[in-house]
Amino acid sequence: MVKSPTLRLLVGLLVTLAAVAVYSWYTLRQLNGLRQLQTDTIDRNRRDSLQLLRMQNDLSQIGLALRDMASGGEPYGIAAYENELAGKRADLEDALKTEARLSPDNRSPQQQKELTNALRQFWQTTGETFAFAKAGQEKRAQQLAATTLPAQQSALASVVARLLFKNNEAEEQAAARVAIIYNRVGRNIYAFLAAMLVGIILTSLYLIDSIKRLFAEVESLSQQRRILAAKLITVQEEVLRSVSRELHDEFGQILTAVGAMLGRAERKGLPPDSPLRAELTEVRQITQETLEKMRALSQMLHPAVLDDYGLVKGLDWYTQLFQKQTGIETTLDVNGDIQRITGQAAIHCFRIVQEALNNAAKHAKTMRAEVSLDFGPDQLTAAVRDYGVGIVQDRKAREPGLGLVAMKERAELLRGSLSVEKALGGGTVVKLHLPLPQEEGQAYLTQQRQEAQTATHD
Ligand SMILES: Nc1ncnc2c1ncn2[C@@H]1O[C@H](COP(=O)(O)OP(=O)(O)OP(=O)(O)O)[C@@H](O)[C@H]1O
Ligand SMILES: [Mg+2]
Repeated sequence: MVKSPTLRLLVGLLVTLAAVAVYSWYTLRQLNGLRQLQTDTIDRNRRDSLQLLRMQNDLSQIGLALRDMASGGEPYGIAAYENELAGKRADLEDALKTEARLSPDNRSPQQQKELTNALRQFWQTTGETFAFAKAGQEKRAQQLAATTLPAQQSALASVVARLLFKNNEAEEQAAARVAIIYNRVGRNIYAFLAAMLVGIILTSLYLIDSIKRLFAEVESLSQQRRILAAKLITVQEEVLRSVSRELHDEFGQILTAVGAMLGRAERKGLPPDSPLRAELTEVRQITQETLEKMRALSQMLHPAVLDDYGLVKGLDWYTQLFQKQTGIETTLDVNGDIQRITGQAAIHCFRIVQEALNNAAKHAKTMRAEVSLDFGPDQLTAAVRDYGVGIVQDRKAREPGLGLVAMKERAELLRGSLSVEKALGGGTVVKLHLPLPQEEGQAYLTQQRQEAQTATHD
């Protein structure tokens, strides 16, 4: 018995689904990590860098203003720059606030403090400078604008530049991490695809092997079934033939002898009006009727005419009998170069026509049936056509009969083919195609058995 591959396939399917689920979960996690890295580090870094650039821009404008203040070119003195610097201070502080919010995770509090302190110092000195200017100490204010303030401004600018550089570095590191994740995901996708491919190839090979085994098993079972059916039909025919011969030869002889003896006894000096003579006549008639019935039965079991005269005569006899028994008008039409068909071929062909006619009587509700035999050079076509209701495919019908199955088996035994179809214009036509000349059925049976043995050994 071939084991069903269903359980293994189901387990395989479950393992595959689990692998796909785990892999999908893993990939989604990696992609989420990537997205997080993108928003948390790279985008934030860029926005922070923008604020630092804004500060750098403010500082360079402040630098220009300090140069003018130090040169003393302004007629209203240094105090005239207070508003301009106040505007820059407001912008710088706004930038500083936003920048502190966006500052990347890797920024140390020390670095942040350095920036805040440098700014505080600068504005403190700026305040002192304007205070000196307002107090009329223009020279002192100019000195501060020329020395301390530019120094503090450039210190501030270099802190901002360092922070910008750090941001750039952090961005490069993030890009490197993204590349690593991409490479890892890419490698895993290839590994996963390769594993799936191997899985698919192995499953397909297993499936192909299972199907091959199943087909071999079905083929072997079908061979065995065919042999069994052939054997059954052959044995059935042999039994019928021997019972028929027994009935005809043994009992027929006995009844014939009994009839003859009764006839002789009747004539042995009994007066014509003797009651014993009348009884003897009656018994002789009963014996005669029994003999005729027995001969008819013997013919039905196995028509001797088939052995003596062949298929055509056998069917001629049977169609007439069938018409007489059923009242269905039945004709036999023979065409082509008639060949004498006897033995197994004759009996199987006869049984097929017999079953087709019986089916017509049982199911077709017809009053007419036609049997035809067409002899070709290498094929005989036997057809039985009725004009009845036709075959209706009813799957829910009561227990299916065996007639059609046996007809097909018999056709196969003769290496022929059988078809049952709706006839044009209504009714059913059963067609049997037989290759000619026909060999003896036993030879076919032996060959079938040999084929089955070869198939089993394969
Ligand atoms: N000539 C026909 N006209 C209409 N229906 C038919 C004809 N021949 C067969 N059938 C249908 O096909 C079915 C199968 O026929 P089959 O000879 O195999 O079985 P059966 O005659 O019912 O039983 P069994 O032959 O075993 O006594 C029949 O039951 C009948 O419905
Ligand atoms: Mg039948």
